Amino acid sequence: MLRQLLLGLSRSRRAQAWLMKSPPIRRAAYRFVAGEALDEAIAVVRTLNEQGISATLDHLGENTQTRQAALQAAQEYLKILAAIHQNNLNSHISLKLTQMGLDLDEDLCFESVKQIIARAQQYKNFVRIDMESSAYTDRTLKLYERLRGEGYENVGVVIQSYLYRSRQDVERLIQMGANVRLCKGAYAEPPAVAFPSRRAVNENYLRLLELLWSAPAQERGTYVAIATHDEKIMEWAKRFALAHGIAKDRFEFQMLYGIRRDLQTALTQSGYRVRVYVSYGREWYPYFMRRLAERPANLFFLARHLFRK
Ligand code: FDA
Repeated sequence: MLRQLLLGLSRSRRAQAWLMKSPPIRRAAYRFVAGEALDEAIAVVRTLNEQGISATLDHLGENTQTRQAALQAAQEYLKILAAIHQNNLNSHISLKLTQMGLDLDEDLCFESVKQIIARAQQYKNFVRIDMESSAYTDRTLKLYERLRGEGYENVGVVIQSYLYRSRQDVERLIQMGANVRLCKGAYAEPPAVAFPSRRAVNENYLRLLELLWSAPAQERGTYVAIATHDEKIMEWAKRFALAHGIAKDRFEFQMLYGIRRDLQTALTQSGYRVRVYVSYGREWYPYFMRRLAERPANLFFLARHLFRK
């Protein structure tokens, strides 16, 4: 119930306009966001790199409403790539197709993403296309296939274990030897498309991971990023990898900035690859609301900010 309410609020432009003005809410949001400016995000990535942790940089923004804003978002990503290169940082980038204008014009979106991937290729860098709500799953995977069809290898996608369709999508991605980030899924989805129970989502996560680690997937060069803060899943993954001879450099764990830093450090110290998703920018509202929805206990943390002078 609370999750649905918070996810509903995350899509409300009215609530956004009102809540974004509140200084305590802004302060609370910055637990999960590196700052408003690229420089601040670069400083966070540098600190992570010093601890042996890699990053993926996300410039906040989604469901862009004008072509100009979509083109600006693409320009910002070119700046990020240049900054990563100039600062010699270990960081990929993650972007959302609706930020690049998917709602407005699919070709505009494709051309922008292609430009970013081509630039990343020059820098020997990698671009992850985040997965948004189920309304975009087909279009996102199609665009990914189109990019691969044009010969780009330095691009990956995301699969959400809460969707019933994900098994089929994973099977197709394995044929392509894809680089897949596996997560549970962060949007409000109806039971017609997504498992309603957490238990089913978690079980499906393990089944999908097994598939991504199957012998045919390994032969085709499939690479998996295990994006979760769920310790049980991490422990399962570690045991499975060990039992099946999957080397530590054939996968990585991914976590979000501001969440479970203890686990980020512990995994790194045990020799696992860890990448942290670092978001920055002014459009923090929907991102922050999804983080609240994932863990309603975060509301207490928000309340502390609200009542603190
Ligand atoms: P779960 O929700 O079961 O939480 C397990 C534990 O993790 C909690 O008990 C708590 O300790 C901690 N935790 C989880 N979320 C927290 C939070 N918000 N605040 C504090 N603690 C928290 N989704 C999507 O739909 N598309 C995408 O492209 C991505 N991309 C992505 C990248 C990366 C690197 C990560 C880690 C996650 C995503 N996600 C995503 C989000 C993902 O789908 C999911 O909503 C969150 O990761 C929360 O689920 P967990 O797997 O962490 O487990």
